[in-house]
Amino acid sequence: MKISLCMFKEGMSMERIVIEGRHPLSGSITIGGAKNSAVALIPAALLADGICTIKNVPNITDKDALFDIVKHLNCEITEDNKAIKIDSRCLNNVLITQELSVKLRASYYFMGVLLSKYKHVEIFFPGGCNIGSRPIDLHLKGFKALGAKVTKRGHKYTLDAEELKGAKIKLDFASVGATINIMFAACMAKGRTIIENAAKEVEIINIMDFLNKMGAKISGAGTDTIIIDGVTKMHGAEIDVIPDRIEAGTYILMGALLGENLTVDGIIPEHNEALFNKLTEMGVSYQIDKNSVTLNKTDSLKPVDIITQVYPGFPTDLNQPMCVLLTQANGTSTMEETIWENRKGHYPSLLKMGAKIELDGNKATITGKTDLKGTEINATDLRAGAALILAGLIAEGTTYIYDIDYILRGYENIIHKLSQVGAKIKIEKI
Ligand code: UD1
Repeated sequence: MKISLCMFKEGMSMERIVIEGRHPLSGSITIGGAKNSAVALIPAALLADGICTIKNVPNITDKDALFDIVKHLNCEITEDNKAIKIDSRCLNNVLITQELSVKLRASYYFMGVLLSKYKHVEIFFPGGCNIGSRPIDLHLKGFKALGAKVTKRGHKYTLDAEELKGAKIKLDFASVGATINIMFAACMAKGRTIIENAAKEVEIINIMDFLNKMGAKISGAGTDTIIIDGVTKMHGAEIDVIPDRIEAGTYILMGALLGENLTVDGIIPEHNEALFNKLTEMGVSYQIDKNSVTLNKTDSLKPVDIITQVYPGFPTDLNQPMCVLLTQANGTSTMEETIWENRKGHYPSLLKMGAKIELDGNKATITGKTDLKGTEINATDLRAGAALILAGLIAEGTTYIYDIDYILRGYENIIHKLSQVGAKIKIEKI
């Protein structure tokens, strides 16, 4: 079988999103749990000899793909509304098949978890959106530094260790996935592990908190140095998934474009500081409250220059939705991507809708204000899909978005959330 980084495409549903544009958005949208936290917290639960409860788990298809792996490993899952319980006491550490691992990127977290607990893992290369080559060399370097032997045959990886020993690991790049995966592997290693140049994303703090509740001894998440003192056993614990700052950012951008007192609720405003700074620079009208922000559409937006950075910089995951706001600023803005080499899937669709964009490598020059027009377009990845929804909401006429499974893997109940605040949006069979 031919393996691609985006095997996900093969299972695409025969549905499309239909949007009738230019309807104002008012009322309140409540943000769910963070996808990027939840997809690490679910595998993390397998470190426990006991039952873990994870609350506020978002209802996204990436969660279902992880559940399939957890069940494949013979663990029990029960779901009650948005709280899930995972019992890993009967875990059977078998090969995680290619069919299961390619469904999402975060399947690589089972590497760190199973290596930590069983000193043995067999798994295939993960899947995920096609936004760049997405290597896992930094994860593997970290595992090797802890004493693991990594064998690669085709796309299959076998990781073994007689014992894992704490080490000093300096990441060449502050990778989110590698930081979390090394934290997992080091939890039950002998002695102290120090991760230098660690990623500082807020989701990593959420994961450290969970691991510590399970008995791990970790400090420093949220800074660039994380210290892990190995323990011999971990137990069941309970954690709340933090709010999704990227989902929040996406709806905040919608409020900037179409809000008539649109409130985005259930957020931690500090997590979106880089976005708010740019919105202020553009002249967007918004008011932050303790856990919410209320936005109103502004007609005279100023252009800005944006460079995506690791946290706390402007998030790469908001690059694509932000581009839609930039098409509505009066003048020339730039958007430069520095994290992923192929976060460009939204540009052809925006051009087709009437945007003025020039692309030079990973830097886009966007000149506004342009009227966008509804047409048929394709989601190429999760955040490109979000951008196309924003574009459809402000476009004249009707927009048809295909390959919508990319969107549903990371935005819970997006059609319902938007319909409730006045958008004319639906999913229909093709
Ligand atoms: C996570 C997020 C994703 C976000 C990204 C950057 C999850 C599930 N996904 O992805 O939404 O866009 O952080 O904020 O949390 N790299 C290597 N070698 C490695 C690992 C990464 O070269 O072993 C490179 C990548 O190719 C990329 C950069 O490092 O250029 C960032 O990757 P990383 O931070 O690891 O992203 P993910 O954890 O995959």
